[in-house]
Amino acid sequence: MLSSENPASGSGDQGSGHGMWSSRMAFILAATGSAVGLGNIWRFPYVTAENGGGAFVLIYLVCILAIGLPLLMSEILVGRAGRHSPINSLRLLAERSQRTWRWMFVGVLGALIGWMILSFYSMVAGWTLAYGWHYLGEIFASSTEALDPQGKFEGLLASPGALIFWLTAFVSLSVGVVALGVEKGLERAVRILMPMLFALLLLMVGYGIASGFFQQTISYLFTPDFSKVDGGTILEAMGQAFFSLSLGMTGIMAYGAYVPRNVNIGRTAGVIALADTGVAVLAGMAIFPIVFAHGLSTGEGPGLIFVTLPYAFNDMAFGTLFGFAFFLLLAVAAWTSAISLMEPAVAYLSETKRFTRVSASITVGVATWVLALGSVFSMNIWSEYTFAGRNFQELIEYISSNLLLPLGGLATGVFVGWALSRVIAREQLSELSDTQYQVWRFLLRYVGPVLVFVVFLSAAGVI
Ligand code: TRP
Repeated sequence: MLSSENPASGSGDQGSGHGMWSSRMAFILAATGSAVGLGNIWRFPYVTAENGGGAFVLIYLVCILAIGLPLLMSEILVGRAGRHSPINSLRLLAERSQRTWRWMFVGVLGALIGWMILSFYSMVAGWTLAYGWHYLGEIFASSTEALDPQGKFEGLLASPGALIFWLTAFVSLSVGVVALGVEKGLERAVRILMPMLFALLLLMVGYGIASGFFQQTISYLFTPDFSKVDGGTILEAMGQAFFSLSLGMTGIMAYGAYVPRNVNIGRTAGVIALADTGVAVLAGMAIFPIVFAHGLSTGEGPGLIFVTLPYAFNDMAFGTLFGFAFFLLLAVAAWTSAISLMEPAVAYLSETKRFTRVSASITVGVATWVLALGSVFSMNIWSEYTFAGRNFQELIEYISSNLLLPLGGLATGVFVGWALSRVIAREQLSELSDTQYQVWRFLLRYVGPVLVFVVFLSAAGVI
């Protein structure tokens, strides 16, 4: 997908020796691969459930449109104008705009957030591998006995050895691709396997419609009940919007560095956001009918899909086959996302003289693995240790997703909206009409920062 020659790009912005996506489609695939992942299928349903449904979904959608989309465009823009790792692109563009080089610390923060997210993300991706492996075994087993969903999940979590095994497998896979450069393998995975995951989700939605609990699901997801909303809910919705679109930690910025000149940033960002939101909503429509049909609790937490989906696979014809396909494809979706969580740190380290791409990838992989052990142990031997009611994994997830992503996004937005030279921004968004450009700029300069600020205050209980 990244070729070192550069067929699609126009004039000489090749100075950094950076590779280039081979086409607009290649970039859309990579960015969609980054956006669509566990965030849509694992996190969206369980966070929605914890926050009471409809009103949460509505606020999430507003955040996507008002904050997410303008920021998505901004990250692509900075990457493409800077043509380096996020840290160095930010420094370069700040200098070119006669601003302080210290803007690069937004990139440093981003790389650190990526590391934190990737740790628990890899553990959960490991769960999907474990489930895929289980169903694979079932396909070949002579006597199939129905899986006990609750027991299976609890059993997995209780075993640090199994969790570490699958965590290690997933981290190794991610390091492997990143070390090779984000290339052909990724393109194929996204072009073929993601549509398969999409088709499978549609099938699950069909199954949900047939279950008789679809009506209830639709009203659960789309009838807002604002009595369930407080500052904390809005913070969760905003965090989920950032998480799902891969925003706030410069991951999309890192991919933006490889975007050819002739790509229309506004339209491309729209396509990515639409695909991402569509998959999340579909996942909700697939999972909640099962929850209601089996009288399960919506407050299941991070285990939600791992406990509910097996009920459906138990009942379905060819359920083991579908179970295998589903968890395998979900692991692939997680994998194409994990790569973008590593890319900012790896790209930066590879630009320094001390690292090659391979040693940079391994370094980031090892650091991720070590931090992930904290999440693994918080599922079992450390489950007693909590801070403010959250165990280690929940704390890392909360701090990185709900607090640091919006903060990182805010900083990126302020940089692009207030510090970056207007000439650079307008040139990157040359396809926008003047009105579109003004709307984008207004959302970025005023709406985003004010919303993030207000949500933080209200979640902290100040207002
Ligand atoms: N968006 C991905 C998902 O929904 C996860 C992800 C990839 C991410 N890159 C990111 C989240 C950067 C936050 C920031 O699964």
